[in-house]
This record gives sequence, structure tokens and C-alpha cells, in this order.
Amino acid sequence: MGIIGGGPAGLMLSHLLARRGIDSVVVDDRTYTEIEQTVRAGILEADSVRMLVDTGVSDRVLREGDQHAGIELGFDGQLARIDFAGLVGSSVWLYPQTDVFVDLAAARSRDGGDVRFGVSDTIVDDLDAELPVLRFADADGARHEIRCRLLVGADGSRSMCRHRIPEDRRQQSFREYPFAWFGILCEASKSAPELVYSHSERGFALISQRTEAMQRMYFQCDPDTDVDAWSDDRIWAELQARVNVNGLELIEGPITSRTVLRFRSFVCEPMRYGRLLLAGDAAHTVPPTGAKGLNLALADVRVLAESISQFLASGLDRHLDDYSRRALQRVWKAQHFSYWMTSMLHLPVERSSFDLRRQQAELRSVVESRAASAYLAECYTGWPR
Ligand code: DHB
Repeated sequence: MGIIGGGPAGLMLSHLLARRGIDSVVVDDRTYTEIEQTVRAGILEADSVRMLVDTGVSDRVLREGDQHAGIELGFDGQLARIDFAGLVGSSVWLYPQTDVFVDLAAARSRDGGDVRFGVSDTIVDDLDAELPVLRFADADGARHEIRCRLLVGADGSRSMCRHRIPEDRRQQSFREYPFAWFGILCEASKSAPELVYSHSERGFALISQRTEAMQRMYFQCDPDTDVDAWSDDRIWAELQARVNVNGLELIEGPITSRTVLRFRSFVCEPMRYGRLLLAGDAAHTVPPTGAKGLNLALADVRVLAESISQFLASGLDRHLDDYSRRALQRVWKAQHFSYWMTSMLHLPVERSSFDLRRQQAELRSVVESRAASAYLAECYTGWPR
């Protein structure tokens, strides 16, 4: 098995396949340090946590992660809690994606997995042949050509693998958004015990956390925002203005990282062409509101490991189609949820009092209706397998 991409999706797949006795080689053109140092999202669904623990990757998430039994929604001068535990008997964990990556890479290394970071000239070919080929050059320049039973593109949103599928054999659905998130890391203690999703007249803000001493926050901005034009003081003033209306005051501290995250919804269907399968961001992207990206990638590879093992045992292509069909059902539910959370919480660019008041009423409808709150809780904590 050849797996292109050594992020959480590729590494988890390799780990799950190894547990089924299936060998794989994982290649990534980024170095270990590059991946480890990229700031990514931080929320794991309960099933994602179970997958890490129950398949023997690591139980560090249980010791160092923070279990969150709800979130706060801030709007129209108030904070309202969505009680995941009470509504749907579930919860999520705050545990950064980079830690998931570190745990998975350590588990692969511990179990003797073949994972190569820092490769170059990666190419996949003969995708509709019986044995497709993976070519790459190692970090030391040695060239390799490996014939594999299957190839898996887990190579992120700019996926080289996806682009190798003929255009007339993939349907791509897109949505662009006219806003982005300004994301920061700061040295401060926690401003709130759980995540706060705050709707305001100045636009959306999200108060998240990392550790006791380091926090992660975001606010809605123009996609062309120049982060260098924003001083610490200006960032804090903007964040405070967006949460104060809802009765929250943030604990401030030095800002150590600032980036603009663009929003996109994207799906490539089917998630299979010949002997190539796509997983995670290579096949789909969601806007970050709702924190579904990493969870979807892990859900993909859980189904994929099963389908690959059935395919190898039977030689029947239908198991590969089954993977795409099953994975896409969850992908589209997550697309809808991420789109809904995004459109409910972010102010349109041409903001009118109608938009503002309608969104406030939508949020009020959600928090005052047990059914609507339970729906949000169900989606946020993750759908059953
Ligand atoms: C984080 C990111 C998200 O997109 C989200 O919805 C919640 C939390 C985070 O980085 O902590």
C-alpha cells in the first residue's frame, strides 16, 4: 500500500492497516518539523479520541487533553451554554492536531512503520492498472519506484493525487466565502473554561484554548487582511469589542503567532479513481467553524482501512466504491453543519440590520429549543459510525 501524505489521515491509515497485517509506506514532502510546527485546529470528537486510545496509538489525549462537555454561544448581549453531555450524552476534547500528529508518528515509529518525511518528486501513475506506481526521492536523494496494490492520496487540500484523476472522472463542488479568520496564539491564562462562539455587530469571534498558559483565538476578517498591519493592542481591542457585548472579558497577553485562515467548502466525488483512493483534506475541505476537518479525516480512514482489507481479501472493486459512498455521507453532513455554523455566526460583508437581527433570532431559536440545541450538540460531538 502506498500512502501519500504523513499528516493525521495518512499516519492513522498506516497504523490501522498495520493492525490488520497490511504493510504500507507513507511519504510526505514536508519534514517532520514542518508538520509539527504548523498551527492547526484543536477539537476532537469523542469517536476520534476513542480511535486514538482504543487502537493503541496513545492515551496522552486523556491525560493532557481537556474534555469539554459543552460550548458557549454568545449573541445579543448574552452567553448561552449548549450542554453536550445533558443533551446527547457526549463531549469533545481540546487536543491540538499537532499533538495528534506527534502521537501518531511516535506510534508508527514504535511499531516499525515505514514513514518517510522530506521526500521530493512524488508522483503517482498507472492509476487504473492492476498495480499502480508510486515514485519519489528520499530526503537523501535516493530514487524509489514502488508498485502497490492500492495508492491513497492523503496529501491535503492542494492534493497532487487528486489532480492525477482525469477531470471528467471527478465532480468537484465548491463554495468560497467572502471572509476569513484572523487566528492568534497568545501567552495568557484561560478567559473561559469552554469554547465561546461569539456573534457580534463587529463580526464573529471564537475563544479557544491550548494550555493553562497559552490560548488560541480567532476573529472574522477580510480574506486579504495583512496580519503585520495589526499590533497586539489593535488585535486585543477588536477581540474585546466582539466578546464584551456578550458579557465576557478576555485575559490578555503577548501574541506569539498570527495568521489568516481562508474559508472554503469543497468536495471531490467519488473519492476513488481506479486504484487510487482519496482521504481527508485531499478529498474535501470544510470552513473551520465547527472544527470538523481533522475529525472527518480520521473518520475517512477508519472506513477506508476496513474497505481496503475487504478489497485485499476478495479482490472485489465494490469494496473501494463502498468506501467512497460511506465516507461521502458523513462528509456531506459535515459540509452542511460547517456551512450552517458559519452562516449563523458570521456577518455578511454587506451587513444590514436585517441580517444581524435575523441571525440573533436564529441563535435564540437554537438555544431556546431543546431539539435545535440537541441537533447542534449531535453534529458537534460527531455522528455515530
Ligand atoms: C479551534 C478551531 C476551530 O475551528 C473550532 O471550531 C474550535 C476550536 C481551535 O483551534 O482551538
